[in-house]
Amino acid sequence: MLPHRPPGVHIRTLTASCQAIMATSGKRISVLTRVRRPAKNPGMTLIGVVGAGVMGVGVAQNLAEVGHQVILVDQKDDILNEALRRLAQNCRLAPMLRGEQVDVSAVMSAVKTSTALEDLGGTATVIENVTEDIAIKRDVYQRLDAICPEGTIFIANTSAIPITTLAAATGRPGNVVGAHFMNPVPMKTAVELIPGVHTSEKTLERARALLAEMGKRAIEVTDSCGFLSNRVLMLTINEAAFLVYEGVASASAVDDVFRSCFGHPMGPLETADLIGIDTILHSVRVLHSYFADSKYRPCPLLIQMTDAGLLGRKSGQGFHSYR
Ligand SMILES: NC(=O)c1ccc[n+]([C@@H]2O[C@H](COP(=O)([O-])OP(=O)(O)OC[C@H]3O[C@@H](n4cnc5c(N)ncnc54)[C@H](O)[C@@H]3O)[C@@H](O)[C@H]2O)c1
Repeated sequence: MLPHRPPGVHIRTLTASCQAIMATSGKRISVLTRVRRPAKNPGMTLIGVVGAGVMGVGVAQNLAEVGHQVILVDQKDDILNEALRRLAQNCRLAPMLRGEQVDVSAVMSAVKTSTALEDLGGTATVIENVTEDIAIKRDVYQRLDAICPEGTIFIANTSAIPITTLAAATGRPGNVVGAHFMNPVPMKTAVELIPGVHTSEKTLERARALLAEMGKRAIEVTDSCGFLSNRVLMLTINEAAFLVYEGVASASAVDDVFRSCFGHPMGPLETADLIGIDTILHSVRVLHSYFADSKYRPCPLLIQMTDAGLLGRKSGQGFHSYR
């Protein structure tokens, strides 16, 4: 059975390449390939996506695939150029990664880029994906609050920072809600949806509707630092890093045990490489500072790897090599 199908995903029997294989082999193969095109979205809106890193690119891709127009904002042109390169690459790899073809040119023409937050003045929804640092995010929310119309809602994508903390940086805490997206965004079918203390029911409804359009099931969780998933995951990754730091085990051995013995698709250090070692360190630090509990003290190896630029997949080297 095919998994849940978001709007804009159509079933086709064969891709051109499968037809070519059939033509040459003379065999009749029954293949179901999902083809995702931008939907004719009647409620199409302009959505702002702030932060063009690992998550911002995934969120922009997912939004464009279901028919939204996106303005993707980051600080520098070279970051945005690299983001567009990864966006195109991710779309091209979709058939291999998730068995779906993506209309690359339609997605690319739906995503515009900018280095000016002021360009988000005409958006009804902004999804924020900037660096996991409270001071950086707070500054972005204060600026967005001054730029965006009163009715604009802000969806915060964060690994650990409480939504109530971010909402307090704005004069509209009722319009701020958290959505902890999972990585890679276009492939994941669930998110943690986190109302802050003041989030209004109307904001929640709008966030639920947008997430449903993006093909996500929203699992609602209480606002608390790290929410539900990262209270557990960040501790696991941090402890796994300590095993390597103390010389108890190699990174490969740690991941092998989780994959082979527990049946996890990825071990904790492979997961850390996928997320980004800097993002892991930021998240563990947020947990450590918020709870003032030494169980969240960051492993020094994570600090050293971040300083050395060994950030995981995004830099080509982390606990494992991707070169
Ligand atoms: N990586 C993951 O697997 C993952 C999963 C879920 C949630 N998150 C959260 O999503 C957010 C983004 O994570 P990421 O992995 O994409 O990080 P990243 O480091 O890959 O990207 C962050 C981007 O934010 C940009 N940025 C920083 N300050 C900015 C500003 N003032 N204005 C505009 N852009 C700015 C940076 O230039 C960078 O491109 C973080 O809060 C993170 O905790 C990450």
